[in-house]
Amino acid sequence: MTSYTLRSASPAKTRSEAVVVGVLQGAKGPELADGGEDVAAAYGRKLRPLLATLGVKGKAGEVAKVPTAGALPTPLLVLVGLGKTPDAGAVRRAAGVAARAVTNAASVAIALPAGTPGLVRAVTEGYELGGYTFTTYKKAPESKATDAPADVIVLSAAARKKEVVAAFEEARVVAAAVATTRDWVNTPPGDLTPPAFADTVLAATQELTKGRGAPKVTIRVLDEAELADLGCGGILGVGAGSSAPPRLVELSYAPKGAERHVALVGKGITFDSGGLTIKPAQSMHEMKSDMAGAAAVVQATFAIARLGLPVRVSTYVPMAENMLSGSAVRPGDVLTMYGGTTVEVLNTDAEGRLILADALVRATEAQPDVIVDVATLTGHMVVALGDRVAGVMGSADVVDDVLAAAATAGEEMWPMPIPEAMRERITSSRIADLSQHDWIRWGGGLYAAAFLREFTGGLPWAHLDIAGPSFNSGGAWGHVTAGGTGVAVATLVDYVRTLAGESGS
Ligand code: BES
Ligand code: MN
Ligand code: ZN
Repeated sequence: MTSYTLRSASPAKTRSEAVVVGVLQGAKGPELADGGEDVAAAYGRKLRPLLATLGVKGKAGEVAKVPTAGALPTPLLVLVGLGKTPDAGAVRRAAGVAARAVTNAASVAIALPAGTPGLVRAVTEGYELGGYTFTTYKKAPESKATDAPADVIVLSAAARKKEVVAAFEEARVVAAAVATTRDWVNTPPGDLTPPAFADTVLAATQELTKGRGAPKVTIRVLDEAELADLGCGGILGVGAGSSAPPRLVELSYAPKGAERHVALVGKGITFDSGGLTIKPAQSMHEMKSDMAGAAAVVQATFAIARLGLPVRVSTYVPMAENMLSGSAVRPGDVLTMYGGTTVEVLNTDAEGRLILADALVRATEAQPDVIVDVATLTGHMVVALGDRVAGVMGSADVVDDVLAAAATAGEEMWPMPIPEAMRERITSSRIADLSQHDWIRWGGGLYAAAFLREFTGGLPWAHLDIAGPSFNSGGAWGHVTAGGTGVAVATLVDYVRTLAGESGS
């Protein structure tokens, strides 16, 4: 376990085996960023030629390791580029790059710009997440041996300020939640079937709530028999093709005195083969990540509880495996959703909206002030926004608040519309209340959002389509490592923070 400490010391006086400093792309060439003043002073006039020799320009993503040869008490100086504007986003990404560069030091001091609570948070989250690894399936012990430093010291001139200490501690909670979300997403789908995923969430809830003073989160796991009793036709229909039965997990965090109540809903398809409308191989191999929304809402709920935010949170996590077999749902079948709405299934690969429909209706019954759902819902959103940006749709004011929270959290999200014309498309079934799909390609992500809206009971609502940013198919960049990214956890926590602020408590 890595230990993190926050200190106000100078990087030129801190004992550690490595020290991280930021480099800016200044108007007159590279310069050490805020936090690196004492390191710059220690090198004096030798700094400029040193940076020139190393070819360091200060560009984002750049990293250089320099033996200090006595210039500093620390043997190794790690320089990371911050680009032209060292805002929280740039600092978060640079800290992530630094974490992967520090490979052989028992301790590291980070002297990146950290003069404000937001920057301290960025440094802490960025470093912890940039150094994330998933080694569960690697042969022990050599390939598992982590050479990450045991001691990480976050340096900030403002380290004694109450808000800065709080930001540091909160960052640790959020980073841990994001890391576990990544673990769950990275877990192979054969090991994380719906029953196994539900068991994992149950065990994690028990662990979280263990002992005196622990956060209070309650959990209910509904199995296939209970789902049948309730009439959750969407979850049961999608799960029908798999030998691993579906589940619905419901979490509740209800702190005393909470004035606001948010419902979170997350898509938990543990593997999406497409069902009978089977996916081509190239689109299937990463579909273990189709439960990223579910993992994110669960971990966000835990983080909110650990932070003790004074907002009630009711979380609904439908889990199913979308497989094909003799018992699978067929194109042409009609499912009756929880609450009675009938839906004609026309493409079994548009399964997310079916399990979310049941869960959204369950959510409305708790009468929350607002519902936020998170789902790896459509490839259309990836086409529209690329693989690093989530699309946000729904009630205008909730969308605005979610986007503001995303900006604070350092996650890229962008508003998308639900055009009026979508209503015509979703109600075009000749035999059921709604059609789940039509074969018109255009605007498929917006069609899906319009479909989900039918199940929100007119409550304020936002839908986050994270199909793109939930899984990094390429190499690590900034604080985002390969595989599951844990996107949306930090945004949800910040969104609930703003709700807490509004309640005036
Ligand atoms: N899980 C996929 C969406 C997805 C695509 C997630 C790429 C992550 C990366 C979803 O269930 C799906 O298959 N959507 C279909 C919708 C279509 C049938 C309307 C899609 O994107 O093609
Ligand atoms: Mn699908
Ligand atoms: Zn899916």
